[in-house]
Amino acid sequence: MSEPILETRGLDKNFGALNVARNINFALAPGARHAIIGPNGAGKTTLINLLTGVLHPTAGSVHLAGNDVTTMTEHQRVKHGIARTFQINTLFMGLSVIENLYLAISERMGVATSILRPAGSNPEVMAEATRILGVVKLEDDALTEIHELPYGRQRLVEIAIALALDPKVLLLDEPAAGVPSAESHIILDAVDGLPKDIAVLIIEHDMDVVFRFAERITVLVRGAILAEGNPDDIAADKEVQAVYLGTSSHV
Ligand SMILES: Nc1ncnc2c1ncn2[C@@H]1O[C@H](COP(=O)(O)OP(=O)(O)OP(=O)(O)O)[C@@H](O)[C@H]1O
Ligand SMILES: [Mg+2]
Repeated sequence: MSEPILETRGLDKNFGALNVARNINFALAPGARHAIIGPNGAGKTTLINLLTGVLHPTAGSVHLAGNDVTTMTEHQRVKHGIARTFQINTLFMGLSVIENLYLAISERMGVATSILRPAGSNPEVMAEATRILGVVKLEDDALTEIHELPYGRQRLVEIAIALALDPKVLLLDEPAAGVPSAESHIILDAVDGLPKDIAVLIIEHDMDVVFRFAERITVLVRGAILAEGNPDDIAADKEVQAVYLGTSSHV
C-alpha cells in the first residue's frame, strides 16, 4: 500500500474501566473506499471521534498526511485535510443550501463575510459552492432553506459542507441513518459519486451498501480490530461470520 493518508498507531481509549479502543493500528490509503463495520457499541463512532480530535486517546497516536495530529484540536485537523459528517444535523436551518455552503467555503478560504456583503458576492466562493452542489446533485435545491428540505436532502447538504472543507479524507458516520428508505438512494448515489482523490471512510450497518461501496473493510468488535481485508476475505472470514455477518446474505 502507498503511504497512508490517515493512520493510527497503538490507539487506546478508556472511559473509566471501559476500553472502547484497544491497540488500534489502522491505515487509510489515499483515495481509498474503506468501510468500518461492527456491532452496536463496538467503538466505531468513538474511533471516528479519535481520528477527528473530538476525543483524545489514552495512548497511541494519529497521523494525517504525514503529520502527527494526536494533540491537535478538531479545527486544526480540518486544516490538515480531514472532514466528517455527524450522525446528527449541524446545519443553519433558516438559511438556504447555497448560503450554508457559501459560509463554509468562506470560512475555509479565509474570506470575510458580513451582513453588509450578502452571500454570493464573492465569485470565487460562489463558483466553488456551485461546483460542490453539482458533486452531490443538489443544484435544484440551491435556494431552498434547509428546514424546507426532506431529511435525506438535509443529510446531502451535510456531505456538501464536509466537501466544502476541501478534505483529503472524508469520514461518513452512517450517512443514511434516519433517512426513509425511499430517499436513501440519493445519499448512496452521492457517496458513490464522491471525487476519487478523496479517501472515504464510511461506517454503515447496511451490508448491501458496504459490500457494494468498499474496496477494503475493517471489522471492529469490542473496541479492537477483529479482521481487515477486501470484501471477499471479510465475507469468507469464519470469525467475522460468527460475530457479525451470521445473518447476512453475503456469506
Ligand atoms: N463519552 C462516553 N463516555 C462513556 N462511554 C462512552 C462514551 N461514548 C461512547 N461510550 C461507550 O463506548 C462504547 C462504544 O460506543 P460507540 O458509540 O463508539 O459505538 P458504535 O460502534 O458507534 O455503535 P453504533 O453502531 O450503535 O453507532 C459504547 O459502549 C458506548 O456506550
Ligand atoms: Mg456509532
